[in-house]
Amino acid sequence: PIGLVDGRLVDLNENVVSMEDRGYQFGDGIYEVTRVYNGRCFALKQHMDRAYRSLRELRIPATYTFDELKSFHELLIKESGITEGAIYMQITRGVAPRAHGFPENVVPRLTMSIRPAAANTALKEGGAKGLFVPDERWLRCDIKSINLLGNILGKQRAKEAGCFEGLQVRGEYVTEGTSSNFFVIKDDVLWTHPAHPVSNLILKGITRTIIIEEILPSLGLTVVEKPFTPAFAKSADEAFISGTNSEIIPIISLDGAPVGSGQVGPITRKIQAAYEAIID
Ligand code: PDD
Repeated sequence: PIGLVDGRLVDLNENVVSMEDRGYQFGDGIYEVTRVYNGRCFALKQHMDRAYRSLRELRIPATYTFDELKSFHELLIKESGITEGAIYMQITRGVAPRAHGFPENVVPRLTMSIRPAAANTALKEGGAKGLFVPDERWLRCDIKSINLLGNILGKQRAKEAGCFEGLQVRGEYVTEGTSSNFFVIKDDVLWTHPAHPVSNLILKGITRTIIIEEILPSLGLTVVEKPFTPAFAKSADEAFISGTNSEIIPIISLDGAPVGSGQVGPITRKIQAAYEAIID
């Protein structure tokens, strides 16, 4: 498997990252995951814009232009020959002797890798089970930080309960999945938790934005970006998660109880079809 460190090709099996990288020692960095369909990056500009925002929020200098980042993505596709895949990009504050405050004159470090992507066909067709889990993350979930302890603990809890995704609950309200956004549909209206600039409690997913800004208007469907409770979600007609890796996966049960009919619903199917048409 191949990767890039600051744009240079490396073998992922080699030791390419310093022990004193602040990403390694502090989780001091940001990341993006971008899908490759038909040998081309999907929504790359949106992903890179979000990466620049994450960097600004963490006060990590942006030392690569969009054109450079784009060419690195294209290089990984070309060198690997992968046409259906996912590219992981991480930027950390850089390498410096361990001290909590920002080091001076440190250069951010960019690491990237490419992998073939799972097709997820069975989940997209048949739907998946969701489990409500406590949202134990920090208060800046709008930043795509490489600190994912809350997310991985929530995912593992769901996995051990035989569920595909953990739907995180902070206080009274459902925020999002552990690596996805969450929508429910009740009486033909879609509900999803608000994102920045209204709320910092979820990641503003690129897939979520495409659904809200492109797909729902084209289908004549209404969305409200408002927090809702687990009880509300359990009473919904349909539910689904969205994300770069998941795309759109119907959620057919929550905490073991069926959502609506317990089958994938008609509105979710329409949204999936519209998304397939966009990525194709
Ligand atoms: N995760 N919310 C969280 C917490 C996420 O980690 C992700 C994506 C999303 C969906 O965002 P987008 O539609 O931009 O992929 C929402 C990536 C794919 C990951 O960690 O692998």
